[in-house]
Amino acid sequence: MTTPSLDTEYADLTPLQVRIATHQHHSEYPDDPVAEVLAALGLTGTEDLADIGCGDARFLAHLRETGHTGRLVGVDASLTMVAAAAAVAGVTALHGEARNLPLRDGEVDVCTARHMLYHVADPLVALSEFRRITRPGGTIAVTVNHARTCHRTHQLVAAHASSYGLTPPDGMINHTVTSDTLPDMMQDIFGNTTIETHDNALVFDRPGPLIAFAEALFTFCGIAPDSPHRVQILADITSEIEQWFMTHPDQLWRDSKGYSIATATITG
Ligand SMILES: C[S@@+](CC[C@H](N)C(=O)[O-])C[C@H]1O[C@@H](n2cnc3c(N)ncnc32)[C@H](O)[C@@H]1O
Repeated sequence: MTTPSLDTEYADLTPLQVRIATHQHHSEYPDDPVAEVLAALGLTGTEDLADIGCGDARFLAHLRETGHTGRLVGVDASLTMVAAAAAVAGVTALHGEARNLPLRDGEVDVCTARHMLYHVADPLVALSEFRRITRPGGTIAVTVNHARTCHRTHQLVAAHASSYGLTPPDGMINHTVTSDTLPDMMQDIFGNTTIETHDNALVFDRPGPLIAFAEALFTFCGIAPDSPHRVQILADITSEIEQWFMTHPDQLWRDSKGYSIATATITG
């Protein structure tokens, strides 16, 4: 059986895409981190921009589709994500690690790292790399989740995993990197920062989308893609969720969440 890890999680596009789609369609208030990061950055459209931990590069694809003419670079530690980014017209996709970026000093005007810094064991090293690759006067934008984001659904999955002796793997999530801690980290590395917070919740009015979201959290709760317990755990979770909706006919399943966008300018 595979050991659950960041490598196994991001070797497959599906769980990430299910999570993103869930946030798009099942948030209590509109949730569009791409639009919010762009609003925080206020780009002219000509900047050279590197997106670190770019995933399937939907952010870069959006920029290209909306007329951004500067160079767009996606960097990711997963070869699957790099291949997805390479398939986006006009995007340079690089396989690389946030703590040792494959980019020259001052190579870009803007560096973004959206929902990835909590995967890095030593975030200050990564932030220093973001500073190194960004020219003086350039801008950094980092997004991370609030502590306990989607805790209710995580706990539901973790409890079922635990009943089969499975535990969340070490090193996938650095729980010290949250909206609470990011401002000080940004201040330490850049000497300035502006923080914007977005409080929200996932809300579900029926079992199907919640079951799909729960399954997209499996690796983070210790359930490997090839775990012999996977099918039974999914059946158990499905049964519990269906039961909850049957016994709470007039209620929504609500799970608090949120994230912060921290921006900084490279001085001197
Ligand atoms: C939660 S996904 C976010 C993807 C994308 N930024 C988005 O918001 O849609 C995290 C991404 O960061 C990548 N990643 C994780 N640790 C990394 C690291 N140390 N260096 C570079 N990429 C990393 C993963 O492979 C994955 O694609």
